[in-house]
Amino acid sequence: MLDSDFYRGRRLRRSPGIRALVRENEIRPADLVMPYFVVETDDSGFRKPIGSMPGQFQLSLQELEKQVGAAVKNGLQAVLLFGIPKEKDELGSQAYADEGIVQEAVRRLKQAFPELVVITDVCLCEYTSHGHCGIVQKGGEILNDPTLDLLARSALSHVRAGADMVAPSDMMDGRVLAIRETLDENGFSGVPIMSYAVKYASAFYGPFREAAESTPKFGDRKTHQMDPANSREALREAEADLAEGADILMVKPGLPYLDIVRQLRDGFDTPIAVYNVSGEYSMVKAAAANGWVDEERMVMEMMTSFKRAGADIILTYFAEDVLKWLNK
Ligand code: PBG
Repeated sequence: MLDSDFYRGRRLRRSPGIRALVRENEIRPADLVMPYFVVETDDSGFRKPIGSMPGQFQLSLQELEKQVGAAVKNGLQAVLLFGIPKEKDELGSQAYADEGIVQEAVRRLKQAFPELVVITDVCLCEYTSHGHCGIVQKGGEILNDPTLDLLARSALSHVRAGADMVAPSDMMDGRVLAIRETLDENGFSGVPIMSYAVKYASAFYGPFREAAESTPKFGDRKTHQMDPANSREALREAEADLAEGADILMVKPGLPYLDIVRQLRDGFDTPIAVYNVSGEYSMVKAAAANGWVDEERMVMEMMTSFKRAGADIILTYFAEDVLKWLNK
């Protein structure tokens, strides 16, 4: 039998150098966005570990600045902020308060790190007493259209504080348009929207809800977040958000939805983001803590899978770690 009779794929796997030459996807520091949880508190040293997300913390403004400062030194270029207010109410009024915790965090970070891309999550669930993403009617229905104004006001307050980009995660219909119009009317037509366009009603958000203290007090999010069984619907959601003015489309969660990332990549020319969510993080952490898996290799393989599926941007709680590993 001649060598040429069959495909010898191993020729290009012979050495690290050859493998590097033919490698198709690579993680760049600029691809990564690190989420942070900032708490409204009088204790400037507040730094509370999130039990279900080892290595992640709820942070005071001061601690946030320290944490981000260290990450920026390692090459972090973008953050996503979640706020946890002191007081929650029916209408989530701290979400759109000019002196709210996220607004303060934006001001502080932009002051300390002008080059850092500060993105804010726009949603009501961390700010409402019932933990839902919108206004709740008697009987428990989450009202769509009345919620849009509150989301738009939230986005505007973030941008006024200096946010570089807003990321609506609520999954109300029409919210991208409402936010776009409000930003434009107020002189912020240059500020991009990264839409959580395709967001599934997922069990993988469990640990986040501890971190953000946003577990719904009753019911669930299935009347607005997508059914995990659907993919054609994902394309409709993406089309709608683009038509409403989204600049970047996000898929969330990440790993169980790589097929959706690929479909969006093939179907649209906009940048695609993927959110490697809390449950995906906690699974790896739990297995690694038991010594069952090699955390670094597993995480880098996950990150590579996002790029291979077609994502440009990766939102991940591993961002700080990945930067350290890339710098080695
Ligand atoms: C809603 C929001 C959620 C996440 C990001 N934005 C939670 C939810 O929809 O219940 C989840 C992120 C994660 O699990 O890491 N504001």
